[in-house]
Amino acid sequence: MKHRLANLDDIPGTGTLLVPFFGREIHLWRKGERYRAAANACPHMGGPLECKGGELVCPWHGARFSLDTLRRTEGSRLMVLPTRVEDGALYYTWGE
Ligand code: FES
Repeated sequence: MKHRLANLDDIPGTGTLLVPFFGREIHLWRKGERYRAAANACPHMGGPLECKGGELVCPWHGARFSLDTLRRTEGSRLMVLPTRVEDGALYYTWGE
């Protein structure tokens, strides 16, 4: 399975781009030459994640995740999605 997420030129190196994803949303961002995608849902209880100062922050109970390391700096773990760059776009991939 492969699902186009966004053109690479639209994915920011600072902050995130929020895009629809099968009825939900995901954050996309770039760290150097590496592209990342993460569900806009806090793994604790599903709260939305806001991009603030290089982190995704959950306003519900304060979980925080680093955009650089993908690690939580406080609270639960981040749900990271598998992706691949192809033909100038970022794709979500599954089972390939
Ligand atoms: S739902 Fe995000 S910290 Fe609880």
